[in-house]
Amino acid sequence: MHQLRTASADRSTAYDDIAQQLEGLFTDERDWLANAANMASLLFHSLPDLNWAGFYLMKGGELVLGPFQGKPACIRIAVGRGVCGTAVARRASVLVEDVEAFPGHIACDAASQSELVVPLLKGGEVLGVLDLDSPRRGRFDALDQAGCERLVGLFLAASDF
Ligand code: SME
Repeated sequence: MHQLRTASADRSTAYDDIAQQLEGLFTDERDWLANAANMASLLFHSLPDLNWAGFYLMKGGELVLGPFQGKPACIRIAVGRGVCGTAVARRASVLVEDVEAFPGHIACDAASQSELVVPLLKGGEVLGVLDLDSPRRGRFDALDQAGCERLVGLFLAASDF
């Protein structure tokens, strides 16, 4: 139990560190595309066990691929489709411990086993999603969800769309 508490405290501190680094990257820069690109890179290189980290943005009523790190991915995703489109339809984060158990999961990279998608909600509008994929089943939990929602909040506050 003590070990578990310590591990989750460490992971929580890791999100504090990432938040601090993000704030540094966003200082004096409000271009959403530049900030999204740096955020995708920072997350991909800071969070362990990821094979994909990036953004899809709403364009013409569907999600279109944005800045990311990882293998080339599907370009367009309809609202309500896959984990990303489900997060848009629900206007809420979707945490998938095992992608094989999520009906309609879109397998862009066969290595992906678990996924966390956080919607970009600004002024009541869904602008897109942040999508994280892992080759490890059960990689993401509530702590990651809260951490990533906080980071998305920083990104939205720091960027003009
Ligand atoms: N798996 C996602 C598609 C995007 S890729 O993972 C980068 C989905 O089901 O929406």
